[in-house]
Amino acid sequence: MPELPPARILAIETSCDETACAVIENGRALLASVVASQMDVHARYGGVFPEVASRQHILSAVPVVEQTLAQAHLTLSDVDAVAVTRGPGLAGSLVVGMNLAKGLALGSGLPLVGVSHLEGHIYSAWVYDAGDTPPSEPPFPLLALLVSGGHTELNLMEKHLTYKRLGATLDDAAGEAFDKVARLLGLGYPGGPAIQKTAEDGDPARFTFPRAWLEGRWDFSFSGLKTAVLRQVRDLEKGGRPLPVADLAAGFQAAVVDVLFSKAMQAARQFGAKAILVAGGVSANRALRQAFSKQKEFPVHVPPLSLCTDNAAMIAAAGYYRFVHGQRDGLDMDVLPTWPLA
Ligand code: KG4
Ligand code: ZN
Repeated sequence: MPELPPARILAIETSCDETACAVIENGRALLASVVASQMDVHARYGGVFPEVASRQHILSAVPVVEQTLAQAHLTLSDVDAVAVTRGPGLAGSLVVGMNLAKGLALGSGLPLVGVSHLEGHIYSAWVYDAGDTPPSEPPFPLLALLVSGGHTELNLMEKHLTYKRLGATLDDAAGEAFDKVARLLGLGYPGGPAIQKTAEDGDPARFTFPRAWLEGRWDFSFSGLKTAVLRQVRDLEKGGRPLPVADLAAGFQAAVVDVLFSKAMQAARQFGAKAILVAGGVSANRALRQAFSKQKEFPVHVPPLSLCTDNAAMIAAAGYYRFVHGQRDGLDMDVLPTWPLA
């Protein structure tokens, strides 16, 4: 592959409940990343409250950009472009980041690049901390498993910025299933980390929950699993004894990991992938990471733990590849709350 030109990208991400900014050099080396989480604000509602999210973004956005530039010891004149999450996400939240990015671009004369949040998650696996030795780059063809709170899909990437969608969830996203089952088990929000922690003390074999294999297609389904956990909880509650929450969490997590891992491996084999990439909030899950790291058939690329959930480093990384491939967006660019990757 020809050498890509050097560039520094500042990116802004406000698609959901994190206000984030980052600066990345040459698509991979992370110079600074700041994430202002609204988790505590939304926890009391048991999920993201869109109207509250937009207002929090307005409060945090400018300080987050200032902190990022200070952390990187840079000013706007040291960067080559401003990237911003255009979608998918909450319209009101996206608009805050988009308007700030436009303001920065207009005020500084920098080019503006709109980026898909999903593409950002995938490119988080290219990122490393500047100063560290660069890990090897994901090779193409690449099988990308994207598992977040809003999306669960398998994509084949033949080269940079191109996606062939093999399959996706027919109902709940993997992260959404973690969140819903966590609520059911009284574990709070966000559910993924809570289930992971609780499952550590549990026996994954005590309850065998169903796996929706959907043979012959690359899609996923998690709603049956969620219902099976609910039914099991109801049955156990009838007994009047305290719920074996750790075993339930471990059994649920094992079912999700089993399906995600097995289908990604099968797809990688069938489509001749050189490696597997796993990204999105659920890629932080220890059991899922272990399943992939234990096998030796395919090299596996995962983002650093801090970049699995929403951040702007991933938007800067994807923004770099879009920028050096010539993408420039106008000040008339609008947000796209619904925006499939492929
Ligand atoms: O990528 P992300 O931050 O936001 C979206 O784009 O959706 O993903 C958030 C999702 C939540 O559903 C959260 O429960 C899940 O990722 N998550 C995890 C873990 N950490 C976050 N799921 C399982 N295990 C984890 N350790
Ligand atoms: Zn996300």
